[in-house]
Amino acid sequence: MEFYEVISKRRSIRAYKKDPVEDSKLSRILNAARLAPTAANRQPYSLIVVKDEETKLKLKDAYSQEWFFTAPVIVCACALPDDAWKRNDGKGYVDVDVAIAMDHLILAASAEGLGTCWIAAFKPEVVREVLNIPDNMEPLVLTPLGYPETIPEPTFRKPLEEMVREIT
Ligand SMILES: Cc1cc2nc3c(=O)[nH]c(=O)nc-3n(C[C@H](O)[C@H](O)[C@H](O)COP(=O)(O)O)c2cc1C
Repeated sequence: MEFYEVISKRRSIRAYKKDPVEDSKLSRILNAARLAPTAANRQPYSLIVVKDEETKLKLKDAYSQEWFFTAPVIVCACALPDDAWKRNDGKGYVDVDVAIAMDHLILAASAEGLGTCWIAAFKPEVVREVLNIPDNMEPLVLTPLGYPETIPEPTFRKPLEEMVREIT
């Protein structure tokens, strides 16, 4: 798929087929996240790929929507705040770094014909326990990964004129 087509066709998918994700596709998608830029090239994140059914079911306690844990794969992106670059005024960029990596992952999944849905509204303490995440790592994003069962219509976006201010 052409780059702009990938961007315009991506949707948050909330219904998944049971079909497994091919290893070759999964590794291309994870590699896309690895290639993302990070502030000062610190790469302050770690990705946990959950395929095990029992573990996925335990994640139900963190985010109980049925479509979430029925996807064949769940990816958890964890931030490593101590490793991240900080600006002189102390602002840390770890969330930005993780978001860019996740966007790479999400768009790569879309290019492979796979669906994702960025999930922020989970219980981090449950994810931490189920996935055995150490204290120096913060679970920041979850996404199911799998073949879409249904592809929703595009959601509303503000018009460009409302978002962009040109100074000429
Ligand atoms: C930072 C972030 C957090 C989100 N958290 C959730 C979530 O917890 N649950 C959910 O169903 N969707 C979540 N979404 C998906 C958004 O609702 C979705 O991207 C938005 O409505 C636009 O729809 P689209 O992705 O299909 O274009 C999140 C998206 C982002 C970027």
